[in-house]
Amino acid sequence: MDHFSYRDGVLHAEDVPLTAIAEAVGTPAYVYSRATLVRHAKVFREALAAVGPIHLAYAMKANPNIAVLRVLAHEGYGADIVSGGELDRALAAGIPASDVVFSGVGKSAAELAHALDAGIGQFNLESEEEGVELAAIAAARGQRAICALRVNPDVDALTHAKISTGKAENKFGVAYDRAGAIYAKLAALGGLEMRGLAVHIGSQITDLAPSRQAFTRMGELLEAIRSEGLTVSHMDLGGGLGVPYQPGEQLPGPADYAAMIAEVAAGWDTTMMFEPGRVITGNAGVMVTRVIRVKQGVSAPFVVIDAAMNDLARPSLYDAWHDFVALTPSGERMTAHIVGPICETSDTFAMGREIDAMEAGNLAAFRTAGAYGATMANTYNSRSLVPEVMVDGDKWAVVADRIEPSTILAAEHVPDWLE
Ligand code: LLP
Repeated sequence: MDHFSYRDGVLHAEDVPLTAIAEAVGTPAYVYSRATLVRHAKVFREALAAVGPIHLAYAMKANPNIAVLRVLAHEGYGADIVSGGELDRALAAGIPASDVVFSGVGKSAAELAHALDAGIGQFNLESEEEGVELAAIAAARGQRAICALRVNPDVDALTHAKISTGKAENKFGVAYDRAGAIYAKLAALGGLEMRGLAVHIGSQITDLAPSRQAFTRMGELLEAIRSEGLTVSHMDLGGGLGVPYQPGEQLPGPADYAAMIAEVAAGWDTTMMFEPGRVITGNAGVMVTRVIRVKQGVSAPFVVIDAAMNDLARPSLYDAWHDFVALTPSGERMTAHIVGPICETSDTFAMGREIDAMEAGNLAAFRTAGAYGATMANTYNSRSLVPEVMVDGDKWAVVADRIEPSTILAAEHVPDWLE
């Protein structure tokens, strides 16, 4: 459920007409609903609380805006981070360092040291090599880094190949068959406190069977490691739960996910950690855009909008579907191709889609754009970096400015020797 709905024929975010935001801020622009973020955070927490003691680390890569983080910090969420930059954002948003989990295959020595200094709660080690390096950095500082070992369970998440992470050939985690030995080796290093296992098989998961299989394998590994006399007190089951992108799409939700986990993890006797991203922020955001013109095409008209693949990359990268609706629909419908102004064919949001009838100047929105939307934006074709707005009831505020091409140009330099 989200808080974007039509009132008197105008799409609103909570109590604010999106047309008013578009007029004031310009387009394209992302708009988030605070009530939706809070609702999703609560629903996920309440569902998962049934599985035992839990720790929730919001995967901030999905939407790292500082106002979004602040809302989730108020809901008691920690952060799953993948860079020093994300750590700084989490801390700036008021998330306690002890609630931060650091994932990622390429944490640099500087990032590891920075995270140790900050006192983060857990490092999810993605390789033996990383563990050895972190142990040395921690020992040199007289510290012990609290760690989980990320394991690659070799399970196909049945999602888009580019966001699948749990197959043996993917770069993530250590090989399942070697995990027990690596855990024992790292546990023996003075600089590390190995306390758990971590797994994350992919994103936009819409079938729970692969997760069940992966978590079952993790349970077997947990037993094997414990039988060697080692401690495993935490199990981090990652994120990945999918969200509906199309109207009427029925997917397993947090309650189904929690029921599956309660079954698989019965008897584990560990703190259960989760790293949800999309399920928290996906449906809490839309991207508002204006139609520049409608151009005749051979098979269907092209609705050329002022948003492009640099503002919302998911359709061009993953052939993702984002529902496209008029802010003030006339009731008429049309079949059209939806494209942006960028000079490549991948700047296409949809082909031959039935949509609300559009003409030049109309305002429209892509739905379910709160996750992996603004954060993946760039300035390709010297376009601006898209702004972000948050709505709370009848209030709204710009929570990320539009970065104009002139600002980016001002950060570039022509060296003397080219003068
Ligand atoms: N934990 C780890 C270790 C991850 O790598 C990810 C996402 C998550 C948690 C959160 O997954 P979520 O709950 O959001 O599915 N840009 C892509 C998605 C990339 C996901 C990367 N990792 C997209 O737009 O679909």
